[in-house]
Amino acid sequence: MSNNSVKKVAFIGLGVMGYPMAGYLQQKGYQVSVFNRTTAKAQQWAKQYGGNFADTPAKAAQGAELVFMCVGNDNDVRSVVYGEHGVLAGMQAGAVMVDHTTASANLARELSQAAKQQGIGFLDAPVSGGQAGAENGVLTVMVGGEQGDFAQAEAAIMCYSRCAKLLGPAGSGQLAKMVNQICIAGIVQGLAEALNFAQNAGLDAAAVVEVISQGAASSWQMQNRSLTMLDGKYDFGFAVDWMRKDLGIALAEARENGSHLPVTALVDQFYSEVQQMGGSRWDTSSLLARLKR
Ligand SMILES: NC(=O)c1ccc[n+]([C@@H]2O[C@H](COP(=O)([O-])OP(=O)(O)OC[C@H]3O[C@@H](n4cnc5c(N)ncnc54)[C@H](OP(=O)(O)O)[C@@H]3O)[C@@H](O)[C@H]2O)c1
Repeated sequence: MSNNSVKKVAFIGLGVMGYPMAGYLQQKGYQVSVFNRTTAKAQQWAKQYGGNFADTPAKAAQGAELVFMCVGNDNDVRSVVYGEHGVLAGMQAGAVMVDHTTASANLARELSQAAKQQGIGFLDAPVSGGQAGAENGVLTVMVGGEQGDFAQAEAAIMCYSRCAKLLGPAGSGQLAKMVNQICIAGIVQGLAEALNFAQNAGLDAAAVVEVISQGAASSWQMQNRSLTMLDGKYDFGFAVDWMRKDLGIALAEARENGSHLPVTALVDQFYSEVQQMGGSRWDTSSLLARLKR
C-alpha cells in the first residue's frame, strides 16, 4: 500500500477538533466515513461535507486504510478502540490507526501492541493549535510510532496541519505534547502575574503589552491572549478542564521518569481553583481571573 493510493479513511470523534479535521480530509479527496457517539453530530457532518457516517466505530473503520481518532481521555479512546464495536474489530491488516487525542504515553504503547497483534500500524499523534488551528487546517502534530506507518499517514495528516513530525517510538508524540503543556502552564501563569502587576501599578496594561510583545518577553500567549485577559473574557479557547487532564498526565509521567515539575504542579492547583470559581470551560488564560478574586 503506497501512501499515494490511500483513499478510504475513517474518523472517530467529531468534537471541536475532530469535526473540522475530518472535514479537511473529505474536502481534499479522501473518502471519509465518520463515527460520533452523539449521532446527530455525525449526521450534520455528513450533510455538510458529503461523507458517510456509521453507527459504530467498527463499521466506520471497515475497509479504511487509515483510521483517525480524536476523543477525550485514555478511557474514551479505549471505549472506541476495543470490543466488538470498536475500531480494531473493523480494521484490516496493513491499515494504520492514528490517535489525535491528548492521552498518556502508556496508552499509546498499549494501543501500539494491541494493533500490532492484528498486523495494524499505530501512531500517537496529539495536536497543538486549538480550535482555530483545526478550523484553519494549520495544526502542529507530534507523532510517535514507526517510520513506515508515518509514511503511510503523513499526506492525510497534512490535510489539516502545517507541521507533523515523527519524534520516536510509540508514546513519543504524547510525551512531546506533555512538554508543550508544561511550557504553556508556566508561560500563562507568568503572563497573568505580569498583567495583574501592570494594572495594580496603575499602568495602561494594553500599551505595555504593545511594547513588550516586540521584545524578549513575547509569547504566543501574550500575542493571542493578553487583550482578552485584560477584558476579563474567557468564554472561548482551550478549556481549563482539558488543561487539568493534560497536566495530570504530565505530572504522572514526571513521577515515573523522575522529573521535577514544581511550577507545573502549582499551576495545576491554580487551575483547580479556577474550576471552583465556575471556570471549568473557560480558556486557560483565566489564571488572571483567579488573581483578581
Ligand atoms: N479543543 C482544543 O483546543 C484542543 C487542542 C489540542 C488538543 N485537544 C485534545 O483533543 C481531544 C478532543 O478535544 P475536543 O476539544 O475536540 O473535545 P470535545 O469537543 O469535547 O469532543 C470530544 C469528542 O470525543 C467524543 N467522545 C468523548 N468521549 C467519548 C467516549 N467515551 N466514546 C465515544 N466518543 C467519545 C465526543 O462525542 P460526543 O459528541 O458524543 O460527546 C466528541 O466527539 C482531547 O483529548 C483534547 O485534550 C483539544
